[in-house]
Amino acid sequence: MRIGVLRETAPGERRVALVPDVVSRLRKLGLEVAVERGAGLAAGFPDEAYEAAGAVLAATPDEVLAGAGLWLQVQAPGPEPVERLGEGAALVCFLPSAARAALLPALRRRRASALAMELVPRITRAQSMDALSSQATLAGYKAVLLGASAMGKILPMLTTAAGTLAPARAFVLGAGVAGLQAIATARRLGAVVSAFDVRPAVKEQVQSLGAAFVAAAQVEAEGRGGYAKELAEEQQRRVLEAVGRHVVEQDLVITTAQVPGRPAPRLLTGEMVRSMRPGAVIVDLAAESGGNCELTRAGRTVEEAGVTVLGPVNLPATVPLHASQMYARNLLALVQHLVRDGALVIDPADEITGAMAVVHGGEARGP
Ligand code: NAI
Repeated sequence: MRIGVLRETAPGERRVALVPDVVSRLRKLGLEVAVERGAGLAAGFPDEAYEAAGAVLAATPDEVLAGAGLWLQVQAPGPEPVERLGEGAALVCFLPSAARAALLPALRRRRASALAMELVPRITRAQSMDALSSQATLAGYKAVLLGASAMGKILPMLTTAAGTLAPARAFVLGAGVAGLQAIATARRLGAVVSAFDVRPAVKEQVQSLGAAFVAAAQVEAEGRGGYAKELAEEQQRRVLEAVGRHVVEQDLVITTAQVPGRPAPRLLTGEMVRSMRPGAVIVDLAAESGGNCELTRAGRTVEEAGVTVLGPVNLPATVPLHASQMYARNLLALVQHLVRDGALVIDPADEITGAMAVVHGGEARGP
């Protein structure tokens, strides 16, 4: 079977779905790989590296997709190349619902399938395929660097002949995948770190990274599958109170709170931002789903009473080499799951495939 990879076309997207190392692993599994020329360049992988790994380089999307059974991308492509897919083939990429709707007519015509990478279930068996987690880890790291560069202070304590500088205080809201990496990164840079989450189970993880856990009295919101649930009104009030008390002392705040399928929980009001120290910086990773901070604007920087609020989008694309490497490893694990005896098997009854297959044989499925 042939696997095809095209150059990403979304503005600012620098990642690529497969890296040369993963191409050679796929070749060892007996699979053919076709890559569009220049696909890996922005991520630091030249055409020659793909060729050396055993890929066929092709000049156009048509050539790449001719005869491909599996088409791997990072972001959803436009509908045009979908028309080039062979019947029964499958596209795998991040596929938000608007893109799914846009691609459905073409997928239907080709009787093709589409698997959404954001729907990999967070279960132990699928951990190696979990691209949301691999990319969120990088976003958590990068968020701290962005915040640190926007601050008028440095993070570590410094004792010099010119006096002693106190360490900066960093506060991480939401201690999931991105949050835990943000804590670890801020600690490595020397900040005094604290973190808040509504799942009490993460307290130990936060503390094991050397950060203090900030708790809100009587707030526990552990939902299904280790995710948080939405808070009741009284709990939300307690959360805002606890966060509001703590945030006034902070120099850097990284927000990463999310409840899957819901708008981002609101953890910082405009009033809370105005209560912070001038010069403080907030980096809101939930910008694209509405923001954890009331003042956040996705892709923009907002200044309020001397506080800077950053709403960065697609941070993984700003570290494209490692982001592509991790994403490609996630795809390798998925391909190993989907390919049996050299042929693609999309089994909707399978726990992993079934959760991801939003289109099967041209027909739309849930969620
Ligand atoms: P995750 O699900 O692993 O972690 C989210 C955490 O938020 C969980 O620990 C959960 O308990 C906590 N949480 C939920 N409600 C809360 C509340 N009311 N108060 C405090 N904590 C609460 O999610 P992950 O993978 O770490 O992603 C975090 C966010 O970062 C998401 O919004 C995701 O879309 C975003 N993200 C943004 C990127 C960017 O470039 N801007 C890139 C990757 C992820």
